[in-house]
Amino acid sequence: MAEVTKRINQMEPWLGEEEKRAVTEYLDSGGWLTEFKKTREFEKLIADFTGSGYASVVNNGTISLVIALMALGIGGGDEVIVPDFTMIASANAVALVGAKPVLIDIDPSNLCLDLERAEAAITPRTKAVIYVSLNGRCHDMNKVTALADKYHLHLLEDAAQSLGSRYQGKHLGTFGEIGSFSFSFPKIITTGQGGALVTDNEELFRKISMIKDFGRPQSGVDYHEIIGLNSKFTDLQAVIGIEQMRKLDWRVKRKKEIYQHYHHLLHNTEPIKFTATNLEDCSPWFIDIVVDGEGTREALAKFLDERGIGSRPVYPAIHTQPPYSGVKGDFKNSEHISQRGLWLPSASFLSDQDIERVCIEIKRFFGATQ
Ligand SMILES: Cc1ncc(COP(=O)(O)O)c(C=O)c1O
Repeated sequence: MAEVTKRINQMEPWLGEEEKRAVTEYLDSGGWLTEFKKTREFEKLIADFTGSGYASVVNNGTISLVIALMALGIGGGDEVIVPDFTMIASANAVALVGAKPVLIDIDPSNLCLDLERAEAAITPRTKAVIYVSLNGRCHDMNKVTALADKYHLHLLEDAAQSLGSRYQGKHLGTFGEIGSFSFSFPKIITTGQGGALVTDNEELFRKISMIKDFGRPQSGVDYHEIIGLNSKFTDLQAVIGIEQMRKLDWRVKRKKEIYQHYHHLLHNTEPIKFTATNLEDCSPWFIDIVVDGEGTREALAKFLDERGIGSRPVYPAIHTQPPYSGVKGDFKNSEHISQRGLWLPSASFLSDQDIERVCIEIKRFFGATQ
């Protein structure tokens, strides 16, 4: 049997032969290291894949959120609605532009922002909603856009985990004014670090392009129209990203098969629960399960670890983290998932036999007969 991935964050063998060959060829050709033609080619692939008018790649999926908020004009005195259960970068980006993240509990049916609670939290200072399509899942996106439209809020989609996931065939990240992606290891594709912003709005794209390049409308010409960052990409990473994009369709398909296989083998194993996942549209990045019972998740993770199988507790609820500890509210669902959720080995290179072995061990832990 192939070795089951020891640590959950060792996801994809991203520097495969194809990437090595592409990087060597590029360097041999006297390639331009900083952002140039290869970066434009990578951006075009992202725009085409997601069906967006424009794509701009940057150095990670945290800074892409910061740039998106800056481009939308969000800053001091503004409030931005953010789910309480997400990777902490979603909230940090808001704080980093000087605005206030308003943390809202999640909807247990899909682990995304609770839309009713979000609506109830809107004040005259609310300027935007960050909708995080966690693990490629989402609501009826028409409801999300309707909420933003009703209150004239900017809709920024944090689709960091959603490359390859859609709602009714339309790619996630393309329902809001800006969509943000991450290519950090271990996303479905990776450039080591990296992120992308997609939009159909030419003016927003122009602002994004300026912000990532010191506020300059033209690269290399030192006239600065606005305050900007240096969040440019490198062509060296783009060469890897282009190769990764060639693997994306296969990985999306394989992630769905893996999810289905785990679900088939474990859905009757008490006390494990799966979150409803529509595999027509959603390509889950991680296999996430909920393990009910005080301390059971930790005991299961330890049992698996002792058998060479890596797993990882899901993100903590954001309001439990020191920078947000003053935040009060009812976060029953985000607390529940953050205390009970577990990621199982999910790399697309896992064989069916690897998955079967993981499931046999899980069933053994719960004393189930095979
Ligand atoms: C939902 C979400 N937002 C933002 C980020 C931040 O992306 P990066 O690690 O590229 O900065 C991540 C990374 O995992 C994420 O999962």
